[in-house]
Amino acid sequence: MVRRLAFIAMGLTFGLSVLVSIYLGNAARETLIRKNHNFASLLAVNLNSQIFRRFALPTRFIFGRVLLSNPEQYRGLDQVVQSIIQDLQVENLRIYAEDHTIVYSINPEEPGDTGTAPSSVDRAAKAPGPIFDIEETLPYHLAFFKVSLPKNTYRLRTTYLMRAPPGYAPDDEPVPVMGILEFSQDITPDMESAVHFQQLALVVTLLGSGTLMVLLLFLVRRAEHAIALRTAEEQRLLSELHQSEKLAGMGRVVASIAHEIRNPLGIISSSAQFLLDHSKEENTGTNKILQAIYDEAKRLTRTVSDFLDYARPKQPKQDAVRVGAVLDQALSFLMPELNALAISVTRAGEEDAGFRARGDKDLLYRAFYNIISNAAQAMVRGGDLTITLERLAADAQGRRATVLSFQDSGPGFPEENMGKLLDPFFTTKDDGTGLGLPIVNSIITSHGGSLELFNAAEGGAVARVTLPGMRDAE
Ligand SMILES: Nc1ncnc2c1ncn2[C@@H]1O[C@H](COP(=O)(O)OP(=O)(O)OP(=O)(O)O)[C@@H](O)[C@H]1O
Ligand SMILES: [Mg+2]
Repeated sequence: MVRRLAFIAMGLTFGLSVLVSIYLGNAARETLIRKNHNFASLLAVNLNSQIFRRFALPTRFIFGRVLLSNPEQYRGLDQVVQSIIQDLQVENLRIYAEDHTIVYSINPEEPGDTGTAPSSVDRAAKAPGPIFDIEETLPYHLAFFKVSLPKNTYRLRTTYLMRAPPGYAPDDEPVPVMGILEFSQDITPDMESAVHFQQLALVVTLLGSGTLMVLLLFLVRRAEHAIALRTAEEQRLLSELHQSEKLAGMGRVVASIAHEIRNPLGIISSSAQFLLDHSKEENTGTNKILQAIYDEAKRLTRTVSDFLDYARPKQPKQDAVRVGAVLDQALSFLMPELNALAISVTRAGEEDAGFRARGDKDLLYRAFYNIISNAAQAMVRGGDLTITLERLAADAQGRRATVLSFQDSGPGFPEENMGKLLDPFFTTKDDGTGLGLPIVNSIITSHGGSLELFNAAEGGAVARVTLPGMRDAE
């Protein structure tokens, strides 16, 4: 569509340029022709009056009447004519008698010729002023394609009825006719200038419109490119949307199945526990099977619960939570496990751990618990867990974000898995669900905070949690 419009605009510009150049060229030609008409008209009137005064009058006086067959009279007229037209580029000057016989010509061979008079001689006999005709050896539209034109390609022929000037004949008699004057002038140089002007106008307008076209094409190309990019991006987003809609639908189905599984699983594990508690003998084959049922049912329950926590995240409460206290709670719950693994915990950062954040202490507990148990699982041969609690500078609203860094001395996150750590079900552990970090991430982001996972320069994994803080007055 844009391309078609651009081409139409280009076509119009091009057509208009040609029309403008034709119009300008024609206007220039008309002006030059008018200038030549004026000049020829003045020359015809001047010849008429000079011939009358300097030839007709004296000849009548001396010879009684004008008879150009008399060589003396002829020479007299020739002298008058030559004195006027010298240096004026006049060609083929002839005078016709009323019967169209040539009575005078600057070409001495022509006088006496009959039947060669052009039609303009007839027309001039009836016209009040001079008649102009252009004789051409090349049509003007073809001259446009020439760089130079040979002499006499265009000639302006003027034909004029010569009369005695007013006042020389009695009022009641018609003004006597002296003959019909015809002469030509070569106007090729003027026409050549008009052609050159027209060529120049065409070149300039074509260059202008050509530049415009190139610019327009360039813009169209860019617009098309941008549109193509946007369409591709829209397509991609649309297909992603479809995909995520499909996944969300599937997720809902799986979540409801998981929900349905959780209750029977609870019954299975509590029944196994009941049977184990009431069994008289220990270490029998049946007891071992019961224990396996209990362990597996428990593990499955945890997986299902984790999955449900991930698939149906709870909306966090908006309490004022003392972050340090929640952290202490998670640590004290995990302390036996940490001690058993010979992991020492170091608390660093600001002394006062009473920073508050708006949120849900159960969910935050869950998040901290997951991070600490990951660290513990990464340091099976003992190690150090350093937890730094600090506050960032106050933002524009006076809130100070709380940052908790958990740095362990384990092997660190495997570099090749860095991009997958937050993918649900990504795990490198035999008994892991791969839902720990995704749940942490969803809890922290639902609090308006952020989770960063990276390896410390000195080795070991770092999980950094940033939670938006509260104003002191809140
Ligand atoms: N502190 C850590 N050091 C090294 N690797 C870690 C650490 N924490 C997590 N990981 C890596 O990230 C993976 C994903 O962790 P996540 O907590 O999501 O799942 P998981 O611990 O494998 O299983 P789950 O938490 O459900 O028991 C882990 O399998 C492990 O490879
Ligand atoms: Mg984990």
